[in-house]
Amino acid sequence: MDKYVIIGNPISQSKSPLIHTLFAHQTGQAMTYEVLQAPVENFNKAITAFFANGGRGCNVTVPFKEDAYGMATMLTERARLAGAVNTLKNLDERGILGDNTDGEGLVQDLLNHHVQLKDAKVLLLGAGGAARGVILPLLMHIPETLVIANRTVSKAKSLVSLFSGCGRVSAATFHSLHNAEFDIIINSTSASLFGEYPNIPASAISNNSIVYDMVYGPGVTSSNQWALAQGASRVIDGLGMLISQAAESFTVWRSIRPITGQVLRELHHNISE
Ligand code: ATR
Repeated sequence: MDKYVIIGNPISQSKSPLIHTLFAHQTGQAMTYEVLQAPVENFNKAITAFFANGGRGCNVTVPFKEDAYGMATMLTERARLAGAVNTLKNLDERGILGDNTDGEGLVQDLLNHHVQLKDAKVLLLGAGGAARGVILPLLMHIPETLVIANRTVSKAKSLVSLFSGCGRVSAATFHSLHNAEFDIIINSTSASLFGEYPNIPASAISNNSIVYDMVYGPGVTSSNQWALAQGASRVIDGLGMLISQAAESFTVWRSIRPITGQVLRELHHNISE
């Protein structure tokens, strides 16, 4: 049995073991996937021990994505630009591969929902690690514009300077969104985790806008409730992104791509219980 874990702190609530166990059954892979809680100061030691004991790969979550970036001996382009790693693969004598599948997870989930990025006017709310991880994969689908708006606009501007060579991307304050309308609004802020919403002008949301909140929960997230009240045509939460990033990590490790639809239905059921 090949061993995989998700490493984080805290980690007991993670849905990843359930998702990857379902993928392993579906694809007939002989593997285990468990949670590994590492002390906040001891990520490198925990990973070194796990790989020394035969671990083949891991997912990495809060607060260790930057430590994992530092530990990888080889990085994919998308991980390098994300500045963070959520997937490590043990390449034995060839070292440790670091990848970031979060952005591809978002893009795949948008495609699964038949949301077209090409030529779309896209607004990305937030400018933290979650935003940074999705910018390159979004730009690869050639939206007409990608506007990054953040409460603290200086962080949005820093992201724009990092990614300006990758596509048409610009920064905005929340207030300056008064005169713009967007086809797709992607909310990478943590607002919904606190029952809040990003306080953008309601006029940025039209009755053609699709709003995607990276947060998920048993009901409609607080940001998505607000977006619906402003007239959004459709809201989507981040559960599908979680499952699609997992499918992408699984593919990196096992070179076989699991199908996500059935797993999404099981997870919906699981989080509503
Ligand atoms: P993550 O790694 O999940 O992106 P983070 O780096 O702490 O987490 O970033 C959180 C993001 O959510 C930031 O963009 C933050 O805005 P500020 O940079 O202005 O702090 C945003 N955020 C959190 N709560 C918010 C709220 N209630 N309204 C708007 N933005 C919010």
